[in-house]
Amino acid sequence: MTELKNDRFLRALLRQPVDMTPVWMMRQAGRYLPEYRATRAQAGDFMGLCTNPELACEVTLQPLDRYPQLDAAILFSDILTIPDAMGLGLYFETGEGPRFKKSVHTAADIEALPIVDPHKDLPYVVDAVSTIRRELNGRVPLIGFTGSPWTLATYMVEGGSSKDYRRTKAMLYDQPEVLHLLLEKLAISVTDYLNAQIEAGAQAVQIFDSWGGALSYNAYQEFSLRYMQKIIDGLIKEREGRQIPVILFTKGGGQWLELMAETGATTLGLDWTTDIGQARARVGDKVSLQGNMDPAVLYASPEAIRREVATILKGFGNGSGHVFNLGHGVTPHVDPAHAGAFFEAVHELSAQYHQE
Ligand code: CP3
Repeated sequence: MTELKNDRFLRALLRQPVDMTPVWMMRQAGRYLPEYRATRAQAGDFMGLCTNPELACEVTLQPLDRYPQLDAAILFSDILTIPDAMGLGLYFETGEGPRFKKSVHTAADIEALPIVDPHKDLPYVVDAVSTIRRELNGRVPLIGFTGSPWTLATYMVEGGSSKDYRRTKAMLYDQPEVLHLLLEKLAISVTDYLNAQIEAGAQAVQIFDSWGGALSYNAYQEFSLRYMQKIIDGLIKEREGRQIPVILFTKGGGQWLELMAETGATTLGLDWTTDIGQARARVGDKVSLQGNMDPAVLYASPEAIRREVATILKGFGNGSGHVFNLGHGVTPHVDPAHAGAFFEAVHELSAQYHQE
């Protein structure tokens, strides 16, 4: 294996000393980049990109080539590859977001779903990970990822994106055992999926619990956190002599950080509604933190972006244990120059917080 030339990201996740705060951005390969739109046009559509390891590798590397400050790469794929591999038929309607040809509503629907075997059912993802690792050639670490069982279940029950999770929540309160059956199947599939990514070369993994914040205090623990805990318990802990850090990101989960910190995750992802200094005080030495600038700050001027970066760095304070990121994915209308101003500001303004 080639030596890792920049391990700032992995070191910060593990709260080891760094020279400056590492930075990457959720959805860093995506529609705000003209080079991404060009490759996607060449592939035909988004799934054409995901299922072609060479093209998935190309778009993964695009933000790294444009922004030398980036301290991590993230596999180009989607969380919905798992329900697609279970046979639901994922497709994208322009401007409408993801849709499924089939959705699941009954115990019989769920019993008929297979457990996903990543090598057999999602070979294009495993191949993309090993291709990207090879092409990165040690530049920065590669992040693998998955959706949380709860977040994936909302898409599978609703048949696509949803604002109110109407059917999924009705199932949660009327037939909790049916929802548990689905979450259990997803947890097993997702554990195998992440382990396959780790074996193919992912050096850290992130669990996207994008819709966990829609749950009540009790329901979050029973229907989301519990299954993320199962996944973390089943993950490969070490590869190539290094620990594999796990980032747990529940959007809207700021009230539950203490509970999340008990799972054994290395790092908690924060959205922008939480104060990072208060979050640090609450979790102490248990976990590191990732986040948490409002993605909409990137619509503002480079001067405003710099001010927000400074505020968050100051809020976290001295020492390691912070990976800078947005509080959710970058949006398509962002000016690529503003993303560049963001990454530069993180490196320039953070060195002062890492002087012994
Ligand atoms: O972060 C990265 O750069 C890695 C790639 C990545 C994508 N999706 C690419 C993508 C990752 C990590 C995801 C995760 C994902 N996908 C999540 C969890 C993260 C989050 O944002 O909360 C969710 C909920 C999805 C489901 C999904 N996929 C949606 C809702 C959409 C439509 C988004 C939209 O704005 O239209 C997608 C499609 C998708 N996934 C795109 C990209 C770059 C856009 C597709 C395109 O090129 O048209």
